[in-house]
Amino acid sequence: MASSWTTLRHDPNQWSETLRRAMTMGDQALNLHLSHDAAPLARVIAVTSGKGGVGKTNIATNLAICLAHLKERVLLLDADLSLGNVDFLMDIRSRYNISHVISGGKSMEDVIQYGPGGVRVICGGSGLDKLANISEDEQHRLLRHLSRLQQETDTIVVDTGAGISSSVVNFCLASDHVLVVATPEASAMADAYGMIKVLVRKGYQGPISIVINMANNVEEGKRAYTRIAYAARRFLQKDLYFAAVLPKDERLCMAVRSRKPVILAYPRSRVSSSLKLLASRLSEMHCAKKASHGGFFRKLVRWLN
Ligand SMILES: Nc1ncnc2c1ncn2[C@@H]1O[C@H](COP(=O)(O)OP(=O)(O)OP(=O)(O)O)[C@@H](O)[C@H]1O
Ligand SMILES: [Mg+2]
Repeated sequence: MASSWTTLRHDPNQWSETLRRAMTMGDQALNLHLSHDAAPLARVIAVTSGKGGVGKTNIATNLAICLAHLKERVLLLDADLSLGNVDFLMDIRSRYNISHVISGGKSMEDVIQYGPGGVRVICGGSGLDKLANISEDEQHRLLRHLSRLQQETDTIVVDTGAGISSSVVNFCLASDHVLVVATPEASAMADAYGMIKVLVRKGYQGPISIVINMANNVEEGKRAYTRIAYAARRFLQKDLYFAAVLPKDERLCMAVRSRKPVILAYPRSRVSSSLKLLASRLSEMHCAKKASHGGFFRKLVRWLN
């Protein structure tokens, strides 16, 4: 089986190229929403899924660390408003979240935690859902802080909750690129398709890429991707992109038990190699094209409203 994963690593599979094209398509669409912000903004990658427990938080966390190792300035936003557990995986303590900035008294610096590799982290229960319910003045003040944060960052990785609740969908709609995580299990594939359907129906025009996690081998993972992509093309007229197949790997479970991201606990494990590959592809793509659009947080408020 090891050789299958090696094959994947060397498989040109045109992923970078197609994704680069997809990003261009996405940017063109997003340019319709050009803002007045001058500095380049971080591109925002949302990691989401239809079914819960498929590996989003592990993927988002490890991806953020890998991107930081590639010299990107990374912000990891735990947007799981119910059960966020990035802090658990990163083994960091968070005392404040954005709601404390909204209610006054705390600054963004108090909210941001520093994780491994210098990854900045905004922990769960982030209070971002309250953005729609505050006065316009407060909204502008907060958005100024958040936009500055986005200007000081290369990539924001957003770990969303599972399922098609409006908060999860809103975070995805405000992002530049959505990674939908599924496993080869039929229910996870069906729920991934359900999530994609909602995003497309709500008018999301950016690239959507599929990550198949916990695969027994590359072939199984690629088959799962093909089935989801086929349904999306046939019934939604939406092309999906293949991002990665990540193996089922006991090392990841061992790392979770010791509250460490697998990429740090077991950097040579099979799943770590695949995560590094995913990160380097995304980073490469980022160098080729920086996001230029109206800003994640501004768009988020628009969707929340
Ligand atoms: N590649 C993998 N190999 C083996 N086990 C895995 C792998 N990925 C995830 N898991 C298992 O799945 C569990 C759940 O992972 P994670 O918390 O990242 O999922 P999630 O999609 O964020 O869940 P939720 O929907 O509850 O937020 C992990 O604790 C681990 O036991
Ligand atoms: Mg999670």
